[in-house]
Amino acid sequence: MPRLHTAPMSLPAENRPPAEGLAARLRGATAEAHARIERTGVIAELIDGTISRQAYVGLLRSLVPVYAALEAGLRRHRRTPGLAPAIFPTLFRGRALAADLRVLAGPDWAVCIAPQAESLIYREHLHRIARDRPPALLAHAYVRYLGDLSGGRLIARTIGERFGLTPDRGLAFYSFCRPDTPSPSDFRRALDLCPLDAGEIALVEREARESFERHARIARALTAGS
Ligand code: HEM
Repeated sequence: MPRLHTAPMSLPAENRPPAEGLAARLRGATAEAHARIERTGVIAELIDGTISRQAYVGLLRSLVPVYAALEAGLRRHRRTPGLAPAIFPTLFRGRALAADLRVLAGPDWAVCIAPQAESLIYREHLHRIARDRPPALLAHAYVRYLGDLSGGRLIARTIGERFGLTPDRGLAFYSFCRPDTPSPSDFRRALDLCPLDAGEIALVEREARESFERHARIARALTAGS
């Protein structure tokens, strides 16, 4: 079990948590990657509203194993001190994704459409870190949930207009209607409450950057396939 509760100032300097909070560090560490992914594959088509229905369904289908593995890991660690402050089941997207895929691709979407190989590789990585390096899960929660809470609402409007979808028919993935859903700043504050040391924070930063690369590989693969 990682050592998480020693008073920070009594730790040797290299183990003292840095002054800047985790949320700000992740934002700084991934800003470039965010700008890059907006120009990548189907994500670029999502932004300019040219994405095909097939590619959009493929994108949602490829996110299913990613959310399933992430949410299984977060459930497993909901009482792990280093992560617990930033685990919000109200943000979990697994069920909403399945509902949207049923609307867009019919009840047999799971057997009729295969996820991208890159998302299955990502899924195995998430299972591995949930087992071996749980704090790293925070990086993927940040990339997915803060992204969904931030840009997701913009994307919902584009997709809704393009495919004639509404929050209760096809846009459940972007709908955070439960009153106890954290806002983007609640989520950032929760990240800052996670008692990680400098080594763990460096791990989470690295994982967040790699997560954007994993998403970019999925986005490129979907363009190649459509
Ligand atoms: C369709 C393309 C996208 C659009 C239009 C979009 C838009 C946005 C916007 C407007 C914000 C808020 C920025 C701010 O607070 O200053 C944001 C934040 C964020 N987005 Fe995106 N985004 C897109 C794609 C993505 C993707 C594909 C990912 C991850 C795979 C992602 C992850 C994030 C994250 C983690 C944040 C929070 C940054 C922070 O405040 O720390 N976004 N996005």
